[in-house]
This record gives sequence, C-alpha cells and structure tokens, in this order.
Amino acid sequence: MFEFERPNNGGEGAILVHIDITGAFEKEDPGEFMQLATSAGADPLQFISGQRSAPQSRYYCGTGKLEEIKAAVHEQCAEVVLFNNALSPSQERNLEQALECRVLDRTGLILDIFAQRARTHEGKLQVELAQLEHLSTRLVRGWTHLERQKGGIGMRGPGETQLETDRRLLRARIKNISARLEKVRKQRDQARRSRSRAEIASVSLVGYTNAGKSTLFNQLTGSGVYAADQLFATLDPTLRTLALPDIGEIILADTVGFIRHLPHKLVEAFRATLEEAANADFLLHLIDAADEERQENYHQVQEVLQEIGADNIQTLEVYNKIDLLGMQPKIERDGEGKPIRVWLSAQANQGLELLKQALTELLSDDIVEQGIRLLASQGRIRSRLYAMDVVKDEQPQDDGSSLLKIRMQKIELERLLSQERVSLEELLWLEPSED
Ligand code: GTP
Repeated sequence: MFEFERPNNGGEGAILVHIDITGAFEKEDPGEFMQLATSAGADPLQFISGQRSAPQSRYYCGTGKLEEIKAAVHEQCAEVVLFNNALSPSQERNLEQALECRVLDRTGLILDIFAQRARTHEGKLQVELAQLEHLSTRLVRGWTHLERQKGGIGMRGPGETQLETDRRLLRARIKNISARLEKVRKQRDQARRSRSRAEIASVSLVGYTNAGKSTLFNQLTGSGVYAADQLFATLDPTLRTLALPDIGEIILADTVGFIRHLPHKLVEAFRATLEEAANADFLLHLIDAADEERQENYHQVQEVLQEIGADNIQTLEVYNKIDLLGMQPKIERDGEGKPIRVWLSAQANQGLELLKQALTELLSDDIVEQGIRLLASQGRIRSRLYAMDVVKDEQPQDDGSSLLKIRMQKIELERLLSQERVSLEELLWLEPSED
C-alpha cells in the first residue's frame, strides 16, 4: 500500500485497489491501472494491493482488506473506490454498502473513459449502449442504496414500482439506442462499400492504447486529430486519404486503442472502429518501442485481431517512440528484402519517409501488369478500369472486343472481378512476345 500526494486536479479523489489472484491466468498490470484511473479523471489518493488465491464471493477481497480500504476511504475523504478487477454486480453493491462510497470496477472504469472520449454520434451511442447494458445487470435491488445513505434517516429506497419503472425505462432506452445504432451502421456500411467501389486501398492503424496511433496519423495526413497522453484518445474511426509515390491515394484509418481484458461486450460495442481494421487491405501495427510491456501488449493486439477476423491481413510492424531509446529510424527486412518492421518516432517526425517507402514497396509488391481481352458486352468493366486510371494501352479489335493492358493493385483487380462476377482466366490475354 502506498499513498500519493493529494493531487489537486479537480478530479474525484480515488482509492485504487488491485487484488492479485494468485495463479490467475493473466495478471493485471497495476501501472496501467494507475493510468486508467487518471485517464478517467480520478485523482489517485492511495493504492492498496492484496493477494488472494480466489476472489471472495461477497466482497471480492477478504474482510481484513475491506477494513483497510474502509479506513483509507475515511482518512483520505475519498469519493470513489476503483477496483482493478471485474466485480460481479452483487460484489459491487456489497462493497458500496460496506464502504459507504461509490465503487467502480475495471469494466465500469473503461466505460467511463470511453464515455468521455467518444466524439462522433455513433461512438457516443455505442458507449451509452454499453453503459446501459452494464448498468442493467446491476439494477437488481435498486441503485439508490447510496443515495439512501447520503440522504440519511428516513430516506427510503425505491419501492418495487419505482424499480420496475427504472427497468422499463432502461429497456426502452436500450431498444431505442440499438435501433439508432443500426441505422448509423447501415450508413457506415454504405460508405465503406462506396469506398471499396472506388477501388482505393485502405490501410488501418492498429495498436495498443497510447502507442501513438493518433500522433502518427496526424503526422502522415497533416490533420488535427486529438492526441493526448491519456488512454483511448481515439474512439471513433477516423479516415483520411494519404498519397503515396507510385501508388496513388490510399485511405488511412485510425482505430481505437486496444487494451488487455477489454470485456467482450466492449469489443462488441466498438465494432465500428474495429470493423474498419477487419475490412482493411493492409494493417500498420503500431508498437510503443519504449514500453516495458511491449511484448505483452503486442500479443494482446494480435489476440483482438484474431477475434475480429483480421489476423490474416498483411501487416507491417511500426515501432514508435524511438526518440526515447536514442535510436535512428530504420527499415528492417526479411531474407527476401521485404520490409517487416519500421522503427520511427511519430512525435519527433523521424522515419516517416521510411514508413511511406516501406508501405509503397509492400503495396506495389502486389501490383499486377496484365493483358486482358474484353468483349463488346463487357463495356462496364472497361469503363470502370478507365475510371480507375489503370489502362496503359488499348487495341480495339474488328469483332468489337478490345485488348487492354492494365497495371493495378492485385487486390483491387480481384475485387473488381468478383463484383463483376468474372474470373481472370476468362479475360486473360497473353501479349504476343516481341520476337
Ligand atoms: P489511444 O487513442 O489511447 O489508442 O492512443 P494512441 O495510440 O492514438 O496514442 P497517441 O497518439 O494519443 O499518443 C499517446 C502519447 O504518446 C501522447 O502523449 C503522444 O504525444 C506520445 N507519443 C506519440 N508518439 C511519440 C513518439 O514518437 N515519441 C514520444 N516520446 N512520445 C510519443
């Protein structure tokens, strides 16, 4: 246990509790917990840790630990107790009653951060939905046991009718938000489809929270996306175009920061931004090179990518914050000379050109130069190819067909052909050799 200088940030004074469950499969990281708490706007007053072989059913922690927390709440005049563990609704309620203080578990804490950071309409709706769903599991015997304590003697809790009303209102609100979200999602899908029709390759930035995605995104695209030394500064997918030499324009998408033990519900809730990654043609996995936990964080991101079905997308690893390690920017290549890692500093603007170079190499790796034969009836494919500016040569034939030479990204060609329901074999035309 240790105390902090009483900060004066105007945040809620908080006691931080971290119970280590011995033998638990994965241990939480107390350092990250501190960062989560401050990101939520809390002023940590005291950190209490404990160890148990299994969570206690009533309070999660043991009764001795409970007394220690209670004493700390009184001594420090804390307004909230934050648990770095997932508490059941009844444990949370029992703790609030015993401590006479608001208690928030890890999920509640993350939700709170999400709520503060959501920027777009969809992001806000998603957070509210996740919060309401989280709340609905906690609305068992009324949520006003704390107000009752605050109000003192004579303040009775809600009767069963009030509780029923609360439940009904909550259900109606959840239904309403779900319907609105569905509408926004449809619009988003539509937008994505029209982008894919425009045949522009999309590159998504993914990475553990605080890796520096927004900073890199801003540097690359010159836009003023909000970046802060706080977790989850990014909650909504942010899209910008980026011009690459020889490749042309691509779409760069910034995504939400990943975090370990993100409750499954939240992964669901932030589908929007993660879907952007799952549908990308290419991923840039950003890693904070200076973070001691970088290995662990790397695996967490891989796990989430697997969960959303994005683990097979071609990826370039980008190690950021090399300024903190005193390193020079560089491209690391595999045995065949293909870029696999880029080391850079987004903030110090070092190595960004190397990143663009590596990206260009990898994307142009997938460029095909092909001769195809289009029949007169396939005029639509022809005009789409012209619209994409990929036709390098055309020789009209007497029978109305046309021999075309095209140069374009393989994935774009595959996408176009599958949309037009033709196979490349059907169109293939081998250019006669010169001799
Ligand atoms: P989330 O939105 O939480 O996912 O974060 P993010 O990955 O978008 O990180 P963001 O760009 O907000 O950066 C997090 C912090 O790291 C900020 O304080 C940045 O200023 C800092 N940062 C980003 N890049 C660098 C870098 O190259 N060097 C150093 N020293 N700090 C950096």
